[in-house]
Amino acid sequence: MNIEKANAQLSQLGFLDLPIDPSLDLFKEIEKLKKEKNAIVLAHYYQEPDIQDVADFIGDSLGLAQQAEKTSADMIVFAGVHFMAEAAKILNPLKKVVLPDLHAGCSLADSAPGPLFKRFKDKFPGHTVITYINCSAEIKAQSDIICTSSNAVKIIESVPLGQPIIFAPDKNLGKYLIKKTGRDMVLWNGSCMVHEIFSLERITKLKMRHPNALVIAHPECEDQVLNIADFIGSTSQLLNFVKTNHHTDFIVATETGILHQMQKDAPGKNLIPAPPDNSCACNDCPHMKLNTLEKLYLCMKYELPEITIDESLRVKALKPIEKMMEISKAAGL
Ligand code: 13P
Ligand code: SF4
Repeated sequence: MNIEKANAQLSQLGFLDLPIDPSLDLFKEIEKLKKEKNAIVLAHYYQEPDIQDVADFIGDSLGLAQQAEKTSADMIVFAGVHFMAEAAKILNPLKKVVLPDLHAGCSLADSAPGPLFKRFKDKFPGHTVITYINCSAEIKAQSDIICTSSNAVKIIESVPLGQPIIFAPDKNLGKYLIKKTGRDMVLWNGSCMVHEIFSLERITKLKMRHPNALVIAHPECEDQVLNIADFIGSTSQLLNFVKTNHHTDFIVATETGILHQMQKDAPGKNLIPAPPDNSCACNDCPHMKLNTLEKLYLCMKYELPEITIDESLRVKALKPIEKMMEISKAAGL
């Protein structure tokens, strides 16, 4: 391998763009690389179907962090976005963590820059800071407890009543949690570019055409969509709901990548993607979809791009993640 060429490409593109022999069966090659390098492929439900199909584990943010924490693999290949791979590295400083495309970011994480967040926090002294995992290590290091969409209620309930709370960075998830827990929290004004575009009007029309369909939504959606949802949950909770609920038709208000596992796990169900508030029919996360099977193969072969983190920042960011892990474990999540 020409490491210099690889590094030069990486610094410009954020991913490797080396030629791949078109006759290669990438699925087989990836399996071979997993064995050769004692590597595990962790994928989020929003990844393209091919990536989900080669993954060793597919999950929501909490499930992925839990897998990353317990794996004995030497290399974690994270098919997701940067904050997820970074959390895996924070939990595993001695393991190599690679991400197929370093530019796979997140609009929510980008909405909370470290220095601005510090100023915001300073305005609310004495507050416990609960931060959604969709944020940078810099924000995690300024937080007391991390949460995900699967455990947020339990995390908030772990804070004594009367103790004021800041919740960041997702205002939609924050508003939903205020209603759900009855706790009055100060919210940071961030949102997810994918979940905030669903159209209430178009979902309502769709519901009229499919009167028996249940609307299921991720809590990052705006409250007008959540208000008409029959079920609200993290990606793995939505998947589980479709698998176990006796209804046949579901209008799904989250990123379309989840439909792949839903269709595989519940083949008899009719899954209708909720329409966004524009002429496009797709609800793809442009960050998640930067990863491709080709980039995944190259990143396993060359072990690049690698996630690195300053050790003092890692130690600070680890504390609130460990707290989340403990509370989740105690709650049986
Ligand atoms: P989950 O933890 O529910 O999978 O959500 C992650 C995410 O980025 C949703 O947009
Ligand atoms: Fe971030 Fe939204 Fe993409 Fe999830 S779907 S990774 S919250 S931008």
